[in-house]
Amino acid sequence: MTKLLLDGDPGHDDAVAILVAAQRLELLAVTTVFGNAPVEATTRNALAILELAGLEVPVAAGAARSLLGEPPPAAGAAHGGSGLDGVALPEPRRAPLGAHAVELLIETARAHREELVVALTGPQTNMALALRLEPRLPRWLRAVAIMGGSAGPGNVRPMACRNVVADPEAAYIVFGCGAPIFWLGFETSRTVLLREGDLARLRAGGRVARTVAALLDFYRQRYRRIYGAEGAPIHDALALLPWLRPDAVRLEPVALEVALAPGPTRGMTVVDRRGIRPDAGLPAEQMPKPANVQMAAAIDRDAAVETILEALLAYP
Ligand code: BDR
Ligand code: CA
Repeated sequence: MTKLLLDGDPGHDDAVAILVAAQRLELLAVTTVFGNAPVEATTRNALAILELAGLEVPVAAGAARSLLGEPPPAAGAAHGGSGLDGVALPEPRRAPLGAHAVELLIETARAHREELVVALTGPQTNMALALRLEPRLPRWLRAVAIMGGSAGPGNVRPMACRNVVADPEAAYIVFGCGAPIFWLGFETSRTVLLREGDLARLRAGGRVARTVAALLDFYRQRYRRIYGAEGAPIHDALALLPWLRPDAVRLEPVALEVALAPGPTRGMTVVDRRGIRPDAGLPAEQMPKPANVQMAAAIDRDAAVETILEALLAYP
């Protein structure tokens, strides 16, 4: 079974990712970061979701701000003020570990060399710090899964997305780290929405599934208000697809760079999809750089949704 550490900023879709991972993969730890809300709130949300499902997975709190300490993009529009609005979740009985998220990440990778997948579903600050502290980390990891950025339209900026805009320097470090990276951009993740019939199935399920349905109802309403979209997104949960349902995602190796210059492109993920052949004979500076990520080019919506729903419905 795939061993996973999930580092994120729960968040409705992070919460779904945590529950699906705990049901279908070996979820070894959850680490938290600022993003959809301040880190104190995302940590509480992680603990509350685990409490809801009766899971004892260790949680460690991480970065409260970006590497440069810039103010994060305004949060709350999609997830509400708590980062996980819509339902009163159980008050967590557990506290986060005393260790920092970065320490737990490094220790988990050291203990499970070449086996651990790290899924990054919020700003990549903790992972960037871990890479600076432990340069052997890329060799220890089986893979890194990243939800964030876009090869098309963005969300918080026209061409850039929250998880990268929140800490572009961290994303630059992580995308360049040399570990095998599975990358899911917003332009692909936004194509998979849970529709009314999917939410009705969750409402007819156990306590956990019913709570998720209520959370996703809130998220769906926000997406309707913001984009006119009809359905609840599950971006972060889809970042686990290669280990849950590999046939549901079509991969394309691409070169991805993070734009750091101030201005409208700061935090943009620049993806080379020109389709230039290796023997094109163009001047070197016009040739694509070597691929550093396996990009999710397309997702089979029905297969992906079925996999997610089955995992959520397996809870009592
Ligand atoms: C990403 O931004 C966050 O709001 C979500 O949790 C997800 O990680 C989608 O662009
Ligand atoms: Ca997230």
